[in-house]
Amino acid sequence: MYCPGSTEWSRSGSGSMAFKCFLLGFVLLCSLWTVGFCNQDGFGFLSLSCGGATGYVDASNISWVSDGAYISSGKTTSIDYIEGTSSSNSPLRFFPDDKSPKCYKLPVKKNVSSNMVLVRSRFVYKNYDRLGKPPVFSVSLGTAITSTVNLTGNDPWIEEFVWPVNYKDTLSFCLHSVPHGGSPVISSLEVRPLPRGAYHTGMRDFPNKSLRKAYRINSGYNESLRYPLDPYDRIWDADQSYTPFHVSSGFNFLLGFNLSSVLESPPPAVLQTARVLARTDVLTYNLPLDALGDYYIILYFAGIVPASPSFDVLVNGDVVRSNYHVKMSEASALHLTQKGIENLNITLKSISFYPQINAIEVYEIVDIPLEASSTTVSALQVIQQSTGLDLGWEDDPCSPTMWEHIGCEGSIVTSLEIADINLRSISPTFGDLLDLKTLDLHNTSLTGEIQNLGSLQHLEKLNLSFNQLTSFGTELKNLVSLQILDLQNNSLDGIVPDDMGELEDLHLLNLENNKLQGTLPQSLNRESLEVRTSGNLCLSFSTLSCNDVSSDPSIETPQVTVFTKKKPDKNTHMAIMLGAIGGTLLSLIVISISVLLYMRKERTEITYSERALDMRNWNAARIFSYKEIKAATNNFKEVIGRGSFGSVYLGKLSDGKLVAVKVRFDKSQLGADSFINEVYLLSQVRHQNLVCLEGFCHESKQQILVYEYLPGGSLADHLYGPNSRKVSLSWVRRLKIAVDAAKGMFIQCLCFSFKQESQGKHDV
Ligand SMILES: *[C@@H]1O[C@H](CO)[C@@H](O)[C@H](O)[C@H]1NC(C)=O
Ligand SMILES: *[C@@H]1O[C@H](CO)[C@@H](O)[C@H](O)[C@H]1NC(C)=O
Ligand SMILES: *[C@@H]1O[C@H](CO)[C@@H](O)[C@H](O)[C@H]1NC(C)=O
Ligand SMILES: *[C@@H]1O[C@H](CO)[C@@H](O)[C@H](O)[C@H]1NC(C)=O
Ligand SMILES: *[C@@H]1O[C@H](CO)[C@@H](O)[C@H](O)[C@H]1NC(C)=O
Ligand SMILES: *[C@@H]1O[C@H](CO)[C@@H](O)[C@H](O)[C@H]1NC(C)=O
Ligand SMILES: *[C@@H]1O[C@H](CO)[C@@H](O)[C@H](O)[C@H]1NC(C)=O
Repeated sequence: MYCPGSTEWSRSGSGSMAFKCFLLGFVLLCSLWTVGFCNQDGFGFLSLSCGGATGYVDASNISWVSDGAYISSGKTTSIDYIEGTSSSNSPLRFFPDDKSPKCYKLPVKKNVSSNMVLVRSRFVYKNYDRLGKPPVFSVSLGTAITSTVNLTGNDPWIEEFVWPVNYKDTLSFCLHSVPHGGSPVISSLEVRPLPRGAYHTGMRDFPNKSLRKAYRINSGYNESLRYPLDPYDRIWDADQSYTPFHVSSGFNFLLGFNLSSVLESPPPAVLQTARVLARTDVLTYNLPLDALGDYYIILYFAGIVPASPSFDVLVNGDVVRSNYHVKMSEASALHLTQKGIENLNITLKSISFYPQINAIEVYEIVDIPLEASSTTVSALQVIQQSTGLDLGWEDDPCSPTMWEHIGCEGSIVTSLEIADINLRSISPTFGDLLDLKTLDLHNTSLTGEIQNLGSLQHLEKLNLSFNQLTSFGTELKNLVSLQILDLQNNSLDGIVPDDMGELEDLHLLNLENNKLQGTLPQSLNRESLEVRTSGNLCLSFSTLSCNDVSSDPSIETPQVTVFTKKKPDKNTHMAIMLGAIGGTLLSLIVISISVLLYMRKERTEITYSERALDMRNWNAARIFSYKEIKAATNNFKEVIGRGSFGSVYLGKLSDGKLVAVKVRFDKSQLGADSFINEVYLLSQVRHQNLVCLEGFCHESKQQILVYEYLPGGSLADHLYGPNSRKVSLSWVRRLKIAVDAAKGMFIQCLCFSFKQESQGKHDV
């Protein structure tokens, strides 16, 4: 018997699954540890020597590893060059072919101590190819194109980003060729976790942003400083304004400081020095910026002098904080944002004592484009697999660059054009691409009926030409936005279904070169619609024209039998006979058959909805419209589970209640009646240990179940997971849960001995 307690599709999924995942994660983490990812003081540091064949430990005791495991493209070489007084031999990786982006997959993971990472990359050209042509290329992180690297003026070039880590385990760092820019090149790549909550204060106006470093200055110090003095390995640059006056105090003095109010945790070595201006009462930093943009500025102050100075803080001439106090033996920070600037003038104007500053950080605020919905991405991945080709579809389809064959509007995939390959059938996955406006699958060896597209309510253009499709299927009428339908050169036979006329926006219908026959539905006979019919057996609006075989040269073998689908040649004799009787009779037959078919269909639908709506006691289960479901799930944005039956999405009803929305994948598995039966049964089950059915939607071929959603994770999380200590289940409670779960499962199994799956709240 199928016991659904262990289905994989809800967050409250299987305990054993979760445990396995936990183990897997643990093993992975351990193996990462052994390759050097965690094998040092700087916990979670990843330091890649790009193009390097072996790892090594540098002077600061940081372990570097070869980048080979994190990227699969590019070539490696090494260069000798002299920088300052020291010469170095460094490996590098370069990318001569200029097609697809070149991506590193960096392991990142949100954890308790960090939700931000620092990503630092270094690009060196130094004429390694002896061509004397430093390259220009762009760099992206996640979905954001962050900067353009131009090695002509600056070689090496260093880029540094502060990136918010989300639920994803890897972050893509990619180099993108630009036209005539030469081969992108990279020398090193570093990932460093940052203190939790850092680089967030004052950013409320800028949600979902990344920061690109412009300046990080250790005021009052003339050399650059990093790990191990800064445990997060930020590089604090020397203060160009070191002279005329600075102060410094010993480390020990700072030990008594309360640093907890500064989430960025600037290292004591940085706070220990300050720039102080005694003579003019005005301290200024003039910082030119790369680009016009929005900037994030953090000013650090520490009371390392035995006085309490106060001053006005001005940015580009405007007072952003008046009478700012630096208290003795206290550290503090000012977080500021500036919109649309290309120059930065930070000025401290004394009010009492001398103005003083200990450190400055300036970042360009970089927008992170939204990711495409995970449903769309996984559907596209499945489609890529089904083509048997590597289309190079990785990461996000829309950003930073659009995948080939894909078109987007913002983060929404609106067109898919794949042709000249073998797809064979329109798989249900295409039905998940809910926002498509254009779908072109011409010449993809499609056979059988047009199917699985009924959910594409925004589809405007559908090109299925040059395939071997044999039937219109039943879903075309649901494509309510359809304007252009190209079905030329298929093997469609029989008559054109009447309900095509329901497509009110249709203005081009190409049916050329099929095996269609009979009279076209009169509903298609309208001024706004062009119907192309040549190259069929006998197809027109006129009920008479099929008589006049000779008038249409494209008709070689007249075919007038509509009852059977036999090969034309066998019917030639009969056809000639019937032809003599006349097309009037034929069209009468055609019309009556269509009418009959139509009525039959209507009738079944009526019976079904009567049953659905009136005859059942729904036990408070609601009937949702497809529109409501779409709104609740934010257009099916967040997948919380997936299985053979389809996908489960997180949704929020208009009353704020969270729900799990289960969308059936393979519509052929369950007829309307079985679906209604399943819904009925589920609606009757009200057990304290089972998730309640909130309602369902059965509209335009959608079979959707809506369940109560249980936040707070699964029981497995509470038993084994990270919350297990916090929530702390007593053994008595654990036993009770086990018993209750067993009861729940018993009922569930009863329900599902003939219907398949449900959402198990508890599992054992
Ligand atoms: C790169 O920088 C050089 C000098 O700084 C400049 O002349 C050149 O136009 C830049 N190239 C691009 C593509 O921006
Ligand atoms: C920094 O200043 C100290 C003391 O003034 C001096 O000894 C040192 O050489 C300076 N370093 C640099 C890089 O200028
Ligand atoms: C440090 O400062 C924070 C607030 O700024 C305060 O809540 C905390 O108690 C202080 N800690 C100590 C040890 O003084
Ligand atoms: C910087 O700002 C201050 C105060 O507004 C002003 O006095 C000073 O001239 C500015 N410096 C530059 C170089 O613009
Ligand atoms: C269809 O695709 C095949 C390759 O799969 C190609 O050889 C053929 O020319 C294409 N036909 C058309 C009409 O584009
Ligand atoms: C559909 O694709 C075929 C093959 O590329 C093309 O000839 C035809 O014009 C397309 N139809 C429309 C309506 O664009
Ligand atoms: C389309 O069908 C017509 C008529 O059957 C045929 O002559 C033509 O070659 C077909 N075109 C392609 C590209 O297959």
